[in-house]
Amino acid sequence: PNAAWSIVIAAYLLGSLNAGILVSRLLGLPDPRQGGSGNPGATNVLRLGGKGAAAATLGGDVLKGVIPVLLARAWAPGELIPAAAALAAFLGHLYPVFFGFRGGKGVATALGGLIALAPAVAGIGALVWLAVAAVFRISSLAALVAAVAAPVAAWYLGLAQSVVLATAVMAVLLLWRHRSNIANIANGTESRIGRKD
Ligand code: G3P
Repeated sequence: PNAAWSIVIAAYLLGSLNAGILVSRLLGLPDPRQGGSGNPGATNVLRLGGKGAAAATLGGDVLKGVIPVLLARAWAPGELIPAAAALAAFLGHLYPVFFGFRGGKGVATALGGLIALAPAVAGIGALVWLAVAAVFRISSLAALVAAVAAPVAAWYLGLAQSVVLATAVMAVLLLWRHRSNIANIANGTESRIGRKD
């Protein structure tokens, strides 16, 4: 059990490695915490650094959700430790120990955790994200709708309690982290994908 819980701690540490900050630094691009929305995530790196940097950010932040869950699955029976690992990686992204506990909004890392933890839920979430983004061209709105859909899907599919709970906790925190986006959506000033506004 100690080994299992040390995977959860490792998941938090891995989650704390913010891909957007590191990729931008590596490529000599502006720090995503200083420009655009100020959020160190793929959407803002897309605004500030373009598609390649955004894809690398998305990939990195997804992977740090995937990897800990796969490790937890290999080490621990049952769903509790994998679910805790997904949540820990997500918390690392939101509250990173390496960056003064000021991290991102958690969309990519939640997706990564769910890809390994509950692929059907990840698939539903990704489809919802794509559908909302295609219609409205707003990354945050797509994430918000997908975040509401994910725990509902996990519950509806009858997944383990720990998986449903971890998905719900991630959703609530994701909504909380998007509160400035929610305000911008409400007053019509939220920026749209592929537009410089
Ligand atoms: O992943 C965060 C996204 O949902 C919104 O990002 O930069 O538009 O606040 P941003």
